[in-house]
Amino acid sequence: MTTVVEINDLKELARRRVPKMFFEYADSGSWTESTYRANEADFNKVYLRQRVAVNMSDRSLAGKMVGQDVSMPIALAPTGLCGMQYADGEILAAQAAEEFGVPFTLSTMSICSLEAVADATTKPFWFQLYVMRDRGFVGELIDRAKAVGCSALMLTLDLQILGQRHNDIRNGLGSFGPKQILQLISKPRWCLGMAKSQNKGFGNIQGHVKGVADNSSLSEWVAGQFDPDLSWDDIAWIKERWGGPLILKGVLDTDDAKRCVDVGGDALVVSNHGGRQLDGARSSIRVLPEIVEAVGDDIEVQFDSGIRSGQDALKAICLGAKSTYIGRPFLYGLGAMGKAGVTKTLEIMRAEMDTTMALCGERQLSNMGHHNLDGTEF
Ligand code: FNR
Repeated sequence: MTTVVEINDLKELARRRVPKMFFEYADSGSWTESTYRANEADFNKVYLRQRVAVNMSDRSLAGKMVGQDVSMPIALAPTGLCGMQYADGEILAAQAAEEFGVPFTLSTMSICSLEAVADATTKPFWFQLYVMRDRGFVGELIDRAKAVGCSALMLTLDLQILGQRHNDIRNGLGSFGPKQILQLISKPRWCLGMAKSQNKGFGNIQGHVKGVADNSSLSEWVAGQFDPDLSWDDIAWIKERWGGPLILKGVLDTDDAKRCVDVGGDALVVSNHGGRQLDGARSSIRVLPEIVEAVGDDIEVQFDSGIRSGQDALKAICLGAKSTYIGRPFLYGLGAMGKAGVTKTLEIMRAEMDTTMALCGERQLSNMGHHNLDGTEF
């Protein structure tokens, strides 16, 4: 029996429990995985300033993300196909996040639908949008997100075409279509169970787009459906159709960050998609200070990619991010223990963040910043 004390313990439990093909789908980065590795490693190049003999009682991690209260500034990032890690994965993760008081972001590519997640939760969650060639369908997705009460829309900008992950091809996942993936998920020998919501297929895209029901591979399907022509001009109508808080995800360049301000984004996410898209890009944490400097307070700067502890998240905050997201850490928890594992992920993150904050001599997360840093080696 493994005692879970850190995110890595959940990762090893998930590695044992989840079929290799599905575990590696979550765990891999694109091509050589150099960006994926750098995302984690570069956090070790950020140093914190220790303070002693200061009052550390009555601490609070509470904050806001796009104007909404959060118990700590760590949200669950959109991750497609959560049901590969655990049956009904999106629903379980959304419930754990809701109980914890942090946002859950449902991916366009989820297995449970917008409506199924809304039925299983009581508070608003967020929806992540990929832009398809069929703009009518994109509009329908936005309308559905509105109809179920989603309280923020996250538009992902760094996946007009799919970065190749070698493991997915080696494991055969690259040639599987949505229908085959669903059949695999339902295999009882994998003890993942077959959730009711999964019977319906890929919740958000099912029935709307040709290819979901046939045997084309998922990567072919993405290539056929996702719009390589997406441009900054498209954001205006998405923003108008949505009409609520808009988060622009996947920014690594200062000029792009300024465009996010120009198009009226409420927040941008400094992110390299967890090292799954442009391998060879710099780590997300290395890029963060430049983006913060470029946009100042003109837009809310959020951060993801590479966070594996509450301390990592806090380092991003000290470097100027207002809040953060985790992808794989909660997927490991989900794969290891379902909903309890996602809760465990969040508990670990909270405890690490709180202790680090206290040892830095701070009581309010909102007061943390550059003055808590003791240099970086970037
Ligand atoms: C993702 N990510 C992602 N992003 C997005 O906008 N839509 C999506 O559907 C997905 N799907 C997805 C699946 C899996 C398995 C992973 C690991 C990631 C990227 C995700 O939102 C986030 O940017 C990264 O996961 C952050 O990096 P870490 O925390 O995983 O290191």
